[in-house]
Amino acid sequence: KSAIISLSEITKFESKEEEFSPYHWYRHMLKQEPVVYNEETDSWHVFKYDLVKTVLNDHEHFSSVRKRSIVNVGYSSDNEKDNQQHHIPDKLDIHNVDPPEHRKRRALLASAFTPRSLRLWEPRIQAVADELIEEFALKSEVDIVKAYTSMFPIIIMSDLLGIPSEDRLLFKEWVDIMFMPTTEATFEQINEMKKTAGKQYFEYLYPFVVSKRTNLAEDIISDLIQVEVDGDHFTDEEIVRTTMFILGAGVETTSNLLANSFYALLYDKPELYAELRNNPELVTNAVEEMLRYRFHISKMDRMVKADNNLLGVELKKGDAIVAWMSAANMDEDMFEDPFTLNIHRPNNNKQLAFGYGTHFCLGAPLARLEAKIVLTTFLKTFSRIEPVERFILEENLTPSAAGQSLTSLPMKLYK
Ligand code: HEM
Repeated sequence: KSAIISLSEITKFESKEEEFSPYHWYRHMLKQEPVVYNEETDSWHVFKYDLVKTVLNDHEHFSSVRKRSIVNVGYSSDNEKDNQQHHIPDKLDIHNVDPPEHRKRRALLASAFTPRSLRLWEPRIQAVADELIEEFALKSEVDIVKAYTSMFPIIIMSDLLGIPSEDRLLFKEWVDIMFMPTTEATFEQINEMKKTAGKQYFEYLYPFVVSKRTNLAEDIISDLIQVEVDGDHFTDEEIVRTTMFILGAGVETTSNLLANSFYALLYDKPELYAELRNNPELVTNAVEEMLRYRFHISKMDRMVKADNNLLGVELKKGDAIVAWMSAANMDEDMFEDPFTLNIHRPNNNKQLAFGYGTHFCLGAPLARLEAKIVLTTFLKTFSRIEPVERFILEENLTPSAAGQSLTSLPMKLYK
């Protein structure tokens, strides 16, 4: 049995484009197979909104401690392997753990994501948005993925960690490699690259963290240095590893959200651009709708912890189960007319792209703020945008952690 649950065995999409816009398939699964067992991958799949919520949040029955998973983006260092072999409890891992252990680990990390931090960061996030837009503000055409959406979240994260701005491109290079998705065929080769990048990253950041201890500032590393929960705190090495986890969770996800939002403004509903430009107060709700309607990589797996019938089928302890949040976001029992992009939807903040309950995304407020600032700043600068005719979607997608990501998205700009 493979440790990676290959979703392509289940979806059988015939093109990247179909995977990027899987509305048809979601509609079918929601209606015909809301909970289904897949033989090839020996895994269960759940699509309905209420059931997805149950799987994500009922940790008594659905555990985050799993043997098999749908994504494989991290890298295994020799050190980590040792850890696993010796079952050393890893207080850094908040993703593969259930309550009650989860609570303390999450509290340690949450020190870096308080509402106060967010307020302090807002001007810095705005400054990065202004800086990047200025670079193409006078052009008549831009590849928004290359110039903006693939750069913004990593620059923000390196800035919030406190990395000097002259090093941020170096930082981006390491991060791009460390979180490259792998398949069984490419695993060995890519894992070697990841190990090298991980080592360089560690060698760069470790002395940085050490010197930060006597040089605290308003940044995430300083927060992680100072946090204490039940008498416990992070060592320097743990802080370096924690930053890797934050980058893995927060960079590509946010890049995808931004790129897909621009795609939606160009192709899904072009009239939306003018509406948002004239009513910038609608941007917050528009971001929620983008997460609901245009963010198709949200899926998460759990392992059945105790036999149960909570989803209306007999689940056995040890079964793997995948919750399709992006499909649940299309459930007509929850969202009226779900296959329409509607930024005026009153309940679109009930979308499940950030998960639900116990493991709800710690970075959600930051991701939302980044998206709001990126879109608002862009809308202020350009009166109109248009697609370029030569763009072919299928040629500009690449497989990413759990779906298809845009590699390029050219557009015409009008001041
Ligand atoms: C957890 C999605 C951005 C940090 C999660 C989970 C999802 C998610 C679905 C839940 C996983 C589960 O149930 O097992 C997203 C999306 C993002 C985003 C869609 C952007 C659009 C970020 C950012 C950060 C971040 C910017 C930090 C800088 C985390 C952390 C967790 C998490 C630390 C683990 C929480 C826990 O297990 O208790 N995210 N995320 N995420 N996310 Fe995000």
